[in-house]
Amino acid sequence: MIIAIDGPAGAGKSTVCRILAQKLGFLYLDTGAMYRALAWALLHEGGIPPVEEVALRLPLLPLEFSIGEKNLRILYDRKELAEELRGPQISDEASRISRLEPVRTFLLSCQRDLGRRGNVVAEGRDTATVVFPDADLKVFLTADLPTRIKRRREEYLQKGIQIPWEEMERQIRERDEADSRRTLAPLRPAVGALVVDTSDLNIDEVVELLAGEARKLGDG
Ligand code: DC
Repeated sequence: MIIAIDGPAGAGKSTVCRILAQKLGFLYLDTGAMYRALAWALLHEGGIPPVEEVALRLPLLPLEFSIGEKNLRILYDRKELAEELRGPQISDEASRISRLEPVRTFLLSCQRDLGRRGNVVAEGRDTATVVFPDADLKVFLTADLPTRIKRRREEYLQKGIQIPWEEMERQIRERDEADSRRTLAPLRPAVGALVVDTSDLNIDEVVELLAGEARKLGDG
């Protein structure tokens, strides 16, 4: 079974998808982390190259996407990347490079390879529209803007990063705009997706709702 969950920044996707995958015993495939890893690796190697060079550089990066115990593992030069992918600069750069055709083509094939094992909860912006259009369950998770700003600020605060409300609002608006307006694989609900507004739901409620949907499919 493949469950594909898309939505904007701060809708609660990552937490919900991680717990949902654990609950079902599925692999949690965080496709955003793959865009972040490419952005991190390119920056680490001197900066994002001009678009005409990107396609040549991608296969040369010492990056490896593999399946760990239950999660995607991302290695750069055999060293695991995790926290370094989470800062605000990498969020912006990941969104920027995600507009580039060679980047999307490169990651699409990696994502489909990883999905071949089955029993996956995939999370991102285009997992239900492009990566796994035949997913068994397609979900679009969203929440109103103030809720998303609040959640993202709390997430950063837990890592000791304090971001003023207005700054967080600007970052989220810009990223929403960039992710939804781009020509390639823009963020939008897939045809037939279950749209869930999580503004008034807590994490457990969202996980329960989605696990219920998955169970219905399993029973059918
Ligand atoms: O989900 P995230 O914040 O980790 O994603 C970082 C960026 O990567 C996001 O702003 C757009 C891009 N992305 C994408 O274009 N397609 C995906 N399936 C996942 C992420």
